Amino acid sequence: MTILVTGGAGFIGSNFVLDWLAQSNETVINLDKLTYAGNLQNLASLGKDARHVFVQGDFGDAALVASLLTQHQPRAVVNFAAESHVDRSIHGPSDFIHTNIVGTFNLLECVRAYWGGLETDTKAAFRFLHVSTDEVYGSLSKTDPAFTETNRYEPNSPYSASKAASDHLVRAYHHTYGLPVLTTNCSNNYGPFHFPEKLIPLMIVNAQAGKALPVYGDGQQIRDWLYVKDHCSAIRRVLEAGRLGEVYNVGGWNEKPNLDIVHTVRPA
Ligand SMILES: NC(=O)c1ccc[n+]([C@@H]2O[C@H](COP(=O)([O-])OP(=O)(O)OC[C@H]3O[C@@H](n4cnc5c(N)ncnc54)[C@H](O)[C@@H]3O)[C@@H](O)[C@H]2O)c1
Repeated sequence: MTILVTGGAGFIGSNFVLDWLAQSNETVINLDKLTYAGNLQNLASLGKDARHVFVQGDFGDAALVASLLTQHQPRAVVNFAAESHVDRSIHGPSDFIHTNIVGTFNLLECVRAYWGGLETDTKAAFRFLHVSTDEVYGSLSKTDPAFTETNRYEPNSPYSASKAASDHLVRAYHHTYGLPVLTTNCSNNYGPFHFPEKLIPLMIVNAQAGKALPVYGDGQQIRDWLYVKDHCSAIRRVLEAGRLGEVYNVGGWNEKPNLDIVHTVRPA
């Protein structure tokens, strides 16, 4: 059996690929464009492991994606590929629209064509899991309860708006074409291979170098953080047992600590 992962050389995708291959013998086809955010060194510990097939390319390249699907016949596609840095989206939103919206659309089209041609059993078992962010829900004040899957979408940056658009496309492909999709919306992640310009590594690197620690606004903003490997466990669990067409929030502040990290479910 095989799965196709997009963006598997990035921060979360590479953790997902490493954890997947540590627990399963299923081959991973890893399609990644290797933008500034992708780094094959994240996967160096795999060496020449034949269960990891790396392909450098664009997940929006229909011919490439169609040929990978036909050749490898994956039972699932897990979509991590994205432009992911909020600050970069403010300085240059165009890449975010192109990658996160148009790229996801092209991927969905290829997957729909592939899925439509599968035999009945493999078609029923197939899954498309879209990895998204809780930033699509906007921001919380100090006294607001945690986001749930029924919160309105109120994206506040070009990044979160482009992810919100991709979430809507994924949902529409389920409702319009019956594509067996799952979506996860996770809070901020930290952990191995975190890109150095993101908040936690930046603070550590600056502190070690005796440099100033940059804080937005008045420093009162609150962000939720989840260890990246907990996010990867949640994705594996949703892939295994998620209900088709549903959305799963992962992480986030929780009134009742120690609950399962995947909580409430929004019906399709
Ligand atoms: N980092 C977080 O805290 C966080 C939280 C919740 C959700 N997410 C979501 O998880 C996913 C992964 O986030 P990340 O932090 O690992 O991002 P990242 O920026 O570290 O990695 C993105 C990867 O996608 C690749 N990529 C970009 N454009 C591509 C294209 N056109 N075709 C193929 N590959 C392409 C990059 O080369 C890179 O390897 C994103 O969809 C993001 O929105 C991230």
